[in-house]
Amino acid sequence: MQNAPTRTPEREAFYQRMAPANLTPLWEVLRGLITPEPQSPVRLALWRYDEVRPFLLEAGRLITAKEAERRVLILENPGLPGESRITTSLYAGLQLILPGEVAPAHRHAQSALRFIVEGSKGYTAVDGERVYMSPGDFIITPSWTWHDHGHEGEGPMVWMDGLDIPLVQSLDASFVEGYGHEVHPPTRPSGNTAARYGANMLPVDWKPSKPASPLFAYPYARSREALEEMRKAQEWDPCHGLKMRFISPASGDHAMPTMGTFMQLLPKGFASAGYRSTDATVFSVVEGEGRIMLGEQAFDWGPRDIFVVPSWKRYLLEASSDAVLFSFSDRPVQEKLGLWREDRGNH
Ligand SMILES: [Fe+2]
Repeated sequence: MQNAPTRTPEREAFYQRMAPANLTPLWEVLRGLITPEPQSPVRLALWRYDEVRPFLLEAGRLITAKEAERRVLILENPGLPGESRITTSLYAGLQLILPGEVAPAHRHAQSALRFIVEGSKGYTAVDGERVYMSPGDFIITPSWTWHDHGHEGEGPMVWMDGLDIPLVQSLDASFVEGYGHEVHPPTRPSGNTAARYGANMLPVDWKPSKPASPLFAYPYARSREALEEMRKAQEWDPCHGLKMRFISPASGDHAMPTMGTFMQLLPKGFASAGYRSTDATVFSVVEGEGRIMLGEQAFDWGPRDIFVVPSWKRYLLEASSDAVLFSFSDRPVQEKLGLWREDRGNH
């Protein structure tokens, strides 16, 4: 594209005259609106769990889960200060619940995912069915489903929340509703949904009515076992190691319509080829240690750390031990809109 037109006094005066009529010249802003490639303010950033955890526990002393509604520390991208966003389209936070506490039932238009970081015997109830959470488990609460959280065990229970809040905000489609009682009454016994939709079968006459997966829990034991079994074939992707996406058993599509979720294994000594894609991605480390490199920047990561990679910036991953990473991004949205692109290799 050619350079921006000169701002002559006559043109300036013209722009000022039209402003009260809610008009503005495209040629003055075009280059910032339609860029040759993504120019994201999002930065590569890493949150070390050891640094975040004391703040979370302090929050646990200062405010109850009930008063906070959700006791969460937002993981805010340093390139988007004050915007409650980890990428331009996604929100992430770390939520703490303490023994005996309840995070009250509500539902909202925003879809949410939980990725469990620490603790056990805490639960998330989705439309009244409880699922107990352990580290590495991945749970969804699709748009407009009732959900509450509780903790029947000991010690802190922490998970990463991922929501499409900024995306819903940009569409002006936000709705939220409180249930009116702290806990949604149990509707089905624990494990019922997993049996109905998660055993490679579906109830014979069941038809999906929503775009999200009918299955709302993806236990780590099963994902980890699949990765371990698959590694025997030694078919490593040069960019991703061994990377799987979580799906809806009803459609084979992503588990949620707005957020893609992935689990990958990097074997000890793995050094990836360069990779970039248009979906800025949030990673949560489950196991192992390694490094993320982007341009001049590099961060070492270990278990429970979280890092975010911006759109269309080439990065490399290394693993110094066998490592498992969970990640999520807005890839399903970009795919549906025909916008998603990737670029593999170091060129
Ligand atoms: Fe919620």
